[in-house]
Amino acid sequence: MKKRESWKSKFGIIMAVAGSAVGLGNFLRFPVQAAQNGGGAFMIPYFISLLLLGIPLMWIEWTVGRFGGGFGHGTAPGVFHSMWQKNRFIKYFGVIGIFGPLVIFIYYNYIASWTLAYAVFSAVGKYGQVADQNTMLSLLRGFQGIEKNQFFSSMQSAYIFFLITFAINIVIIYKGISGGIEKLCKLALPTLLIFGGIIAIRVLTLGAPDPSRPAWNILNGLGFLWNPDFSALKSAKVWLAAAGQIFFTLSVGIGVILTYASYLKKTDDVALSGLTAASTNEFAEIILGSSIVIPAAYVFFGPNQIQNIASSGAFNLGFVTMPLIFQKIALSAFFGCLWFGLLFLAGITSSVSLAQPSIAFLEDEFNISKKKAVIVFGIVSFILCQPAIFFLKHGVVNELDFWGGTFCLVLFATVETVLFGWIFGIEKAWEEMHHGAEMKIPGIYKFIIKYITPLFLFCILGFWFYQEGIPIIMMEGISPADKPYVLGIRLMLLAMILILAIMVRIAWRKRSRNKK
Ligand code: ALA
Repeated sequence: MKKRESWKSKFGIIMAVAGSAVGLGNFLRFPVQAAQNGGGAFMIPYFISLLLLGIPLMWIEWTVGRFGGGFGHGTAPGVFHSMWQKNRFIKYFGVIGIFGPLVIFIYYNYIASWTLAYAVFSAVGKYGQVADQNTMLSLLRGFQGIEKNQFFSSMQSAYIFFLITFAINIVIIYKGISGGIEKLCKLALPTLLIFGGIIAIRVLTLGAPDPSRPAWNILNGLGFLWNPDFSALKSAKVWLAAAGQIFFTLSVGIGVILTYASYLKKTDDVALSGLTAASTNEFAEIILGSSIVIPAAYVFFGPNQIQNIASSGAFNLGFVTMPLIFQKIALSAFFGCLWFGLLFLAGITSSVSLAQPSIAFLEDEFNISKKKAVIVFGIVSFILCQPAIFFLKHGVVNELDFWGGTFCLVLFATVETVLFGWIFGIEKAWEEMHHGAEMKIPGIYKFIIKYITPLFLFCILGFWFYQEGIPIIMMEGISPADKPYVLGIRLMLLAMILILAIMVRIAWRKRSRNKK
């Protein structure tokens, strides 16, 4: 068996997994989800989902990844096959664990590049004269190529920042697990937590910046986010949103943690390390993520406008509202750079993790060198990134995010949980989780992993299908002008999944021939 790469230190892998988890989702997606789904009451389904889905899935992915790594497999087809060797089909389910992260990668990387661009814009004062939401929004739209205006007449700058971000990703993954990803995350994650801490402290000490409006103060801002609306708990939508946020933020159900864990040694701890990575993410999300955008928007825009701002979505909040807020405080360029720098670090530590399953798949299953794997991945993913860039206004990113960032996660998590608790068997699974463990996992989790987590996942899949599945599949609510683009993306996704399945077949055929 070919010698695989490994992590240099336990701190390194924890930072890498936490780096994958802490992303744009913590600082932009989470506050918007909480504000739109019951405020403080959202935290009830959120914590329930964390305890019954997020943490068990974190442990499952660390454990199965390390297990599969022992057989020389770093991605779900091989890992699943190692867990259920008698079954010929299970490896094809594993394709979702390469497809999902690749789909997220091809739009996430572009969004991460906006944060780099805006960090530079903050430093050079590009948006310094803009004082209202509409003008700031047109700057963003001009940058994205959605409209031509006084700020941008082409997509040239957006494309240059995309190329830089893409190149950074490629260099890091080329440098490998310990030489690239581990080094990056060990530096970037603590840095971004410090940036987040500085911004959060600045926001929380804003008081009531406009003396003529004493009610527009930080306490009321926090109250807007946290005052519970318990009636929201009656809606299935709120529960789905909470579960979806847990998946997205922890990066579970994607396939990336499984790949990262495959570079562990058999005796390395997974129990405490998995929990530490999850806790770091929750700190960044609940403490930092909730203390920045919504409270800051409240004190500067007041209780009436905040509703519209919160419902205008995560991108508007991050790229329109936040730059306007920075104009209103001292050291605006500094805080602007800090904010977008924080988002860029959060984005890049997540995007390299999304690329790694494809790289591991090529290296492990086709026995090719890292260099070749990175070249193949670089060319293919570069081409696949283009629709998200050029057809953004036609809803292409939403479509990619839905399949890659929502649907596949739940499906993949369901397959891996059932495989782990039922096929592999909970007794063996429990023993595997405790190999080299530096903590004893509470016994109740044996029951939760076997019964509750899969049940919860089936309920989510069922409710989703009932509430949203059919309308989404039928493209309801998509304008006739955008339908061809959405259809085009679906065909592209279908082709990707078919090609990956064929590649799995080829790899396994080759292996069985070599055995003979
Ligand atoms: N977990 C990553 C995020 O929160 C994908 O953005």
